[in-house]
Amino acid sequence: MRKVSFHSTIFGILLVVLIPVRNLRAQNLDSLFQHSLEFARQQLENSVAEIVDTTQFARSTDEYGNWTTKSSGSWTSGFFPGCLWHMYKYTSDSTWKNWARSWTAGLWDEQYDTGTHDVGFKVFDSYGLGYRMTINEDYKPVILRAAQSLATRYNSTVGCTRSWNNRTFPVIIDNMMNLELLFWASKNGGETEWYDMAISHGLRTMQDHVRADGSTYQIVDYNPTTGIIIQKETSQGYTTESTWARGQSWGLYGFTMAYRHTGDVRLLETACKLADFVVDNLPEDYVPYWDYFAPNIPNEEKDASAAAIAASGLLELSGLVDSTDLQVKYWNTAENILASLSSDSYLAESSNSSGILLHGVGNHNKGSEVDVSLIYADYYFIEALLRHQGLVSPTLAPREYACLTPTKIKLLPNYPNPFNPVTTIPYRLSESANLAFSVYDLTGRRIRSFDTVYQNAGNHRFIFNARQLASGIYLFVMQAGPQVKSIKITLVR
Ligand code: GLY
Repeated sequence: MRKVSFHSTIFGILLVVLIPVRNLRAQNLDSLFQHSLEFARQQLENSVAEIVDTTQFARSTDEYGNWTTKSSGSWTSGFFPGCLWHMYKYTSDSTWKNWARSWTAGLWDEQYDTGTHDVGFKVFDSYGLGYRMTINEDYKPVILRAAQSLATRYNSTVGCTRSWNNRTFPVIIDNMMNLELLFWASKNGGETEWYDMAISHGLRTMQDHVRADGSTYQIVDYNPTTGIIIQKETSQGYTTESTWARGQSWGLYGFTMAYRHTGDVRLLETACKLADFVVDNLPEDYVPYWDYFAPNIPNEEKDASAAAIAASGLLELSGLVDSTDLQVKYWNTAENILASLSSDSYLAESSNSSGILLHGVGNHNKGSEVDVSLIYADYYFIEALLRHQGLVSPTLAPREYACLTPTKIKLLPNYPNPFNPVTTIPYRLSESANLAFSVYDLTGRRIRSFDTVYQNAGNHRFIFNARQLASGIYLFVMQAGPQVKSIKITLVR
């Protein structure tokens, strides 16, 4: 009789105990997050009725819990239409599409705004999201024009786009978010130099804003003639050397997104450094104080917006890192944040707020928008919930393409990654099959498909010429009937 070792017995018991616990956690979270999305739907429906005027955009709540609105010039104006687009994705109901289109149209003039880096937030989260969801070709020129506006703020000596018009040439950590407008536009009919500007900006921010421990400065002010740093500062953080929580989240999300667009491993490593700082410094309820080093913690305000942005960024990052430990760490932290935000402590369900999340902080130093609902907290909260469901991009492995096991397809080792521009993907078939091959981008869009071929069991290789593809991260998918094998491929030009 086979001897059963002590270790394998313990392992067996652990499996029996842990797998149901894990499933239970997943089920509980799924229904908790579903509840949050339903609440978001209800709140946004009420907000549409509350605001009515499509030239006014929800920003933060007042002392009565009502929305204070701003005109299209506010840096936050893209988030309300963005929330409506998210709801269209969630419900597939054209009522949401119509509302989203109406408020998006109210932002038309912003494409010409050369006065702030926030043109990115304004246009990419409204027109940009609408385009990616509906492929409305009328939106594309608006996005490209906005990218052109942002590009006017680029200085090649500094290697960055200028964030604000005060100081000398300030670049703020928030600006990482707006690089997506440049990356996307350069790959969708815009200028290739916009891509170069965005990657340069990302690398300079990596060098100057990120400290050795993965925390960040908010502002670096440069001399635009020499490119030399004049000084480092903060505007919304506690002190220059502390770490403003939302800025840290912008950086985490921004470096992750920049890696997705470039495949540049330095950007991935930076995203991980920032993420590790967040994971290591979150308080017990996973929602950061407005500054990680605010002087009177625990008697300081929390910032739900910093939590929501971090959660969304961590979900994406968990799909981009190769190490399973990191994947689990980032995914679980994101889930913990979202669970906390979905609890009575943060969800605005039993409050008078028109928002979805309570306890956001706009600018603590100015005493402005402290402990209120913030439209951008709601936007990234919904985005993260949808990312968790695999409903919005970017998700590395859209649910329907997730790897099914056991599979008759096995990728063989020594897979070259990154590849440039022709790659060979070796694999083994355990039995003969009709194999279909395709390549997806991280928006879940199939960008290449190849004829299905019948192959016998054994070792094979697929030679893929990626010459026409832009830098970034893609999914190579092999499918044999219901069995699917997918692998992340990194393309660096
Ligand atoms: N500049 C955007 C923010 O306050 O986070």
